Formats: sequence, C-alpha cells, structure tokens
Amino acid sequence: MAFSANEVCELQQSWDNMIKEHGFDGVGLAVLLGLYNEAPSSRSLYGYSRFSLPQDGVITIEDLTSRPLVIEHAVKVASALDRIIKLLGKQDDLKAFLEDVGEAHKMLNVGSRNFEKIEDILSRAIGESLGPMKTDDLMQSWDKACGVMKQFIISVY
Ligand code: HEM
Repeated sequence: MAFSANEVCELQQSWDNMIKEHGFDGVGLAVLLGLYNEAPSSRSLYGYSRFSLPQDGVITIEDLTSRPLVIEHAVKVASALDRIIKLLGKQDDLKAFLEDVGEAHKMLNVGSRNFEKIEDILSRAIGESLGPMKTDDLMQSWDKACGVMKQFIISVY
C-alpha cells in the first residue's frame, strides 16, 4: 500500500511535532507502555527480563521511567520509527527496512504472534502523543501507516 505525497507530508510533519513535544524517549515509552499492557506476554520475552518489569498487573509510566534500560530501549524503538517515517513515500526502501526489523526480531526469538496487536498499539500510542494535533483525517493516515508497518514486518515470518 503506497502513500500519496499529501499523506507523506502530513505524517512526517505530525511525527516531527510529536517528537518536538515528547522526545524519542516520550514517544517510545508510550509505545512500550501500550505493548506491555496490551500484550502482557511480551514482558517476559528473552532480553526484556533484564528490564525486570513486573510480570502481573497494570504497568504504569513510572514503572518504565524508573528503569534506565527501558528508557534506552524506548529511544531505540522511536529511532527505528523515525527512520520508518522518513522512508514513507520510498516504498522499496521502506519495505526493505521493515523486513530488516522483522528479521532482527526473529533473531531475538520474538514470534510473529507478538506482532498481532502492534498495529493497534502503535496507533493508540501515536494518537495519545499527538494530543491536540489529533484529527480523524490525520488518524486515518496514521492507521494506514501502522498497518503497513505490521504488514511488512510480519511478511518475513
Ligand atoms: C514497529 C514495532 C517495533 C519496532 C520499531 C521495534 C524496534 C526495536 C529495536 C530498534 C530494537 C533494538 C534492536 C537492537 O538493539 O539491535 C528492538 C529490540 C527488541 N524488540 Fe522490538 N520493535 C518493535 C516491536 C516489538 C514487539 C511487538 C516486540 C515483542 C512483543 C518486540 C520485542 C523486542 C525485544 C525482545 C527486543 C530486544 C530487547 C533487548 O533485550 O534489548 N519489539 N526492537
């Protein structure tokens, strides 16, 4: 699914505004908070255990901000998203990068079922980070972008 020049422009502009407002750490933490609460089985994945996250109950933003390793990871995730957003409109490069993300997760023993909810998790985290910038039209474009991310990532499984 390709993106029109208009969609690319609004997605890139709103992403830049979101990052100005919350930083890579803030947006990355919003994604991780959604992931840990909406897909709790992700908390115990190899590697994540070194974050020593609570295994039960709701995880709060304070649970994440009190763990420097989690903040570091959030920045890595948001940096990957930044690269993805910059590649929108360059469909072949976008596909290649997302396939690399999928391959990297396969190597980390992250199964494809862990990506089942990623579209909704990303969309919700982005919607929250947009705050007052959020409109129905803009969210339609973001939903499309989140769908494409999931589609290309899981295509390598
Ligand atoms: C579009 C969504 C995602 C992006 C952009 C993303 C990005 C990244 C990046 C950049 C890394 C660091 C790789 C490295 O250090 O070489 C990473 C690591 C990792 N990701 Fe993801 N990720 C995504 C979704 C997920 C999901 C859904 C899961 C599992 C539920 C997951 C689990 C992991 C794990 C276990 C690691 C290793 C963490 C560690 O111990 O350092 N990721 N991810």
